[in-house]
Amino acid sequence: MFDPKKLRNDFPMFRNNIQMQNKPLVFLDNASTTFKPDCVLNAIKDYYEFETSNSHRGDYDLGYKVDVLIDETRKDVAKLINSEANEVVFTTGTTHSINQIAFGYARKILHKGDEIILTKAEHASNLLPWFKVAEETGAVLKYIPLDKEGRVATDNLKKVISNKTKVVAVAQVSNVLGFIADIKSLAKVAHEFGAILVCDGAQSVPHMKVDVKDLDVDFLSFSGHKMCGPTGVGVLYGRFNLLKEMDPLILGGGMNATFKSTGEMELLPPPARFEAGTLNIEGIIGLKAAVNYLLNIGLDNIREYEESLRKYAIDKLSKLNNVIIYNKNAEAGIISFNVKGIFAQDEATFLNYKGIAVRSGLHCAKILPEWLNEFATVRVSIYFYTTKEDIDYLVDILEKGGDFLDAYFA
Ligand code: ALA
Repeated sequence: MFDPKKLRNDFPMFRNNIQMQNKPLVFLDNASTTFKPDCVLNAIKDYYEFETSNSHRGDYDLGYKVDVLIDETRKDVAKLINSEANEVVFTTGTTHSINQIAFGYARKILHKGDEIILTKAEHASNLLPWFKVAEETGAVLKYIPLDKEGRVATDNLKKVISNKTKVVAVAQVSNVLGFIADIKSLAKVAHEFGAILVCDGAQSVPHMKVDVKDLDVDFLSFSGHKMCGPTGVGVLYGRFNLLKEMDPLILGGGMNATFKSTGEMELLPPPARFEAGTLNIEGIIGLKAAVNYLLNIGLDNIREYEESLRKYAIDKLSKLNNVIIYNKNAEAGIISFNVKGIFAQDEATFLNYKGIAVRSGLHCAKILPEWLNEFATVRVSIYFYTTKEDIDYLVDILEKGGDFLDAYFA
């Protein structure tokens, strides 16, 4: 039985009764990063205390054990996203993954006048690599117009896509607006025009079932630390035939089959081709524990719970006259709002003073204001361990305002 309060016992950050400003911490910044359960921390500790050795190098039992753990992690990640294990590349995170796709694959196929289609709701990591690749290749940047709520509608992709489009790169869940894009239908349209669909899964994979075969995406990226895993490790999924065409951005040990003094080299097949140098072994081992932890809870349970908690939060926040919510009808557990007359950063600082951790500002989505007409927002983002009591406390604080806020009311 899914019980968020019970699950909190798995997390030292809850058991340790962390305080902020001498108040119990209420952590509502899970789109930024998440807490780590014991199983993840123990897996990392065990590696250092009982299993330390490098991978793919040692002809001894310890090294073999690490190799097996890494292979198993690949299989576990493949199970999570319904891919093949050899389609799972370990990276440092979503940003690294998208850069690898943009510079290792897209740069090879893009020519002057070709089109890259994005949205104005994308995070910097799903914009800047494409800006740079467009600059280098002469490709043209286009945007799927967001609908009036901020959704990425397939009909709007149809309005901008053409036979020159080679890449459509979209987040499955916007880190500011929280809408879940219909990636399956976007991919279908992209493929009809001969383009690839690159999906930023940073805000979706930790929170819902993501099946790369069903969605029919060509690439998917996500980060370990947003799904109870360690920082510094992430995943790049790519269709194997596309991975075979992709160039590595980092070359060195562990990714080559052979090389000669003439400069000739033969690279290993994917995924090893993209994993030069010593891997983030502790990160990968921690990711394995995180993936299994989430699979054990059940991604459908997580999704269902977050959806109901989001509705609960929206119902309560909607009753506050001083709060403007920008994404009332979104699906994911991300709520962006402002308190009337208060700059978002000031509001977040005030909430910090009350023990509440939220993110404020542009959330790295720096061209979204072109559509939202708001420079900065306060963002609450929940996870499966967020409780109604967390939301009640937030709403109570927002409702009362307090001296700090009074100073700003006209
Ligand atoms: N991408 C993370 C966020 O949205 C850091 O907060």
